Amino acid sequence: MTASGLFISFEGIDGSGKSTQARLLADHLRKQGRDVVLTREPGGSEGAEEIRALVLQGDPDRWSAETEILLFTAARRDHLERTIGPALAAGKVVICDRFADSTRMYQGVSRGDLRHVVDDLHRLMIGIEPDITVLIDMDPAQGLSRALSRQTAEERFEDFGEDLQQAMRAGFLALAQEFPDRFVVIDGGHSVETVAQAVQAAIQERLVS
Ligand code: ADP
Ligand code: TYD
Repeated sequence: MTASGLFISFEGIDGSGKSTQARLLADHLRKQGRDVVLTREPGGSEGAEEIRALVLQGDPDRWSAETEILLFTAARRDHLERTIGPALAAGKVVICDRFADSTRMYQGVSRGDLRHVVDDLHRLMIGIEPDITVLIDMDPAQGLSRALSRQTAEERFEDFGEDLQQAMRAGFLALAQEFPDRFVVIDGGHSVETVAQAVQAAIQERLVS
């Protein structure tokens, strides 16, 4: 699938402010007259939203890490076929709240070293990376308290607690170093407005270059 649009993903630990910032960036780019599709993972298409309920609700031990890799990748494939791919082919800007880097971290690192499995399956079934990945970096204690204050049923991963979030933060920063061409790291520990301005500035720079 060759894309003519622009594919932007947001990554970071739970509660880092990704969804807030993805929405604000979409508003900002729409005001510039760009055609923007704001979407999320797991989810973003009808079938993938059904898989979302399976993977995010219930007991933390409900699925093995291997089964989760299959479920998240199945959801991503449907999302790609039905939402992301067509939008990029039509020249739109796609802003996605989490993408494959989340699987590389949550399933690839948190319960043993399964990164190669994530990458192999990604190559086989997905095959594309975002043009730009915005990593909202933030202190896990702050992120967790923000995330838990939301009180949703989707807490399988948030139940893992602060240790996992610490590992995730370090892992995401390492991913940013592994893929420096597409990652921008933004400090999420400021006001919503300050973070939004930093995101806009980083994206604007990439849109120009
Ligand atoms: P994520 O998608 O990364 O889990 P959200 O955007 O849903 O994060 O934000 C988690 C919670 O923190 C929400 O209640 C949101 O309103 C709040 N929040 C987001 N960004 C900030 C910020 N910069 N400062 C304070 N609170 C924030
Ligand atoms: P999300 O709705 O972005 O939660 P939050 O707003 O709290 O960050 O994602 C839900 C959870 O799904 C989150 O804890 C991370 C997890 N997740 C994975 O474990 N693997 C994946 O591939 C994706 C996309 C998400």
